[in-house]
Amino acid sequence: MVNINNDEPIRVVVTGAAGQIAYSLISMIANGDVFGKEQSVILHLLDILPAMGVLEGVCMEIDDLALPLVKGYVKTIEPEVAFKDVDAAFLVGAMPRREGMERKDLLSANVKIFKVQGEALDKYAKKDVKVLVVGNPANTNALICSFYAPSIPKENFTAMTRLDQNRAQSAIAKRLNTCVSSVKNVTIWGNHSSTQFPDVYNAKVELSGKSNGVYSSINDSEWLENDFIKTIQTRGAAVIQARKMSSAMSAAKAAVDHMHDWWLGTPEGTWVSMGVLSDGSYGVPKDLIFSMPVSISKKQWKIVEGLKITDFAKSKLDLTAKELLEEKEEAMAVCNA
Ligand code: NAD
Ligand code: LMR
Repeated sequence: MVNINNDEPIRVVVTGAAGQIAYSLISMIANGDVFGKEQSVILHLLDILPAMGVLEGVCMEIDDLALPLVKGYVKTIEPEVAFKDVDAAFLVGAMPRREGMERKDLLSANVKIFKVQGEALDKYAKKDVKVLVVGNPANTNALICSFYAPSIPKENFTAMTRLDQNRAQSAIAKRLNTCVSSVKNVTIWGNHSSTQFPDVYNAKVELSGKSNGVYSSINDSEWLENDFIKTIQTRGAAVIQARKMSSAMSAAKAAVDHMHDWWLGTPEGTWVSMGVLSDGSYGVPKDLIFSMPVSISKKQWKIVEGLKITDFAKSKLDLTAKELLEEKEEAMAVCNA
């Protein structure tokens, strides 16, 4: 029988709690898939007034899940209630893009949400809160959120590119007709947008009990440097075109993977991709939220240094950095207006 830590539940806020990503995400948090099967939780569910009826239904379903790790929940439209004493924050609430839009087209509509929520985190959250921004444009929203929460360390703000990593891992596994869990160390560099660079140059795959390079195992650099990259860069748009709504089930799972690894760590010798504050590593301009390979121990991420960056990779990194610099400038202008 699992020994549940009833005494010290952690407080976890999910914004956009009545939306489609949250609908999958909340049940996985409640089930212990993020913080572990022994960690109880109190859920703080934030949405806007018109969504309160739907959120009421979500709360009924949380009751009906009958999961023992849930020690309570609050549903609210007030940031001061939502962010009070939280240990972890999933910032999902924002407008999703529709067919024909780029994610950066959401910037002016969404960035102010992250200014307000940064200010609220600053005032009400625990100082070691771990913040994952999912709402798009995720990298720039995370940067703005951190900017307006100066009392919280900058490394506590991250943006989600784990969905891109999962997509890339899955595409490689499919191509090699192997299990997705045998593909390791795929890196997503840069923005969660069509300029991202999914990089498998340093990735490994276990085939017949032996670890091999993905590049040599696939042995088709034409595919790896063209179709593969394009497919991952445009996967979000392809899902929107097919579903007429943006990805939700896979986005929620990626949010679970991201926070799980941040909370509980990555295995020795492996890394995952997270949008984190750039420190100049790999020639990336400082002070952007840029997806990087990170290893994690004791809830602290560290950029994996020393990976080989080819000229091809360097040109891709420059492109996505340029887009993030432009987004940063635009976001600051929107927030200052
Ligand atoms: P959705 O429209 O189903 O849900 C969004 C919810 O946010 C709604 O309930 C809405 O009422 C709420 N909301 C709006 N403004 C809010 C505010 N100020 N405070 C709190 N809640 C607010 O959208 P969704 O499909 O759940 O997607 C949410 C966001 O996640 C979108 O921006 C989408 O583009 C993004 N997304 C990111 C990734 C990623 O990989 N980073 C993947 C998928 C989707
Ligand atoms: C995704 O990657 O599926 C999300 O960011 C939604 C989108 O707008 O592409």
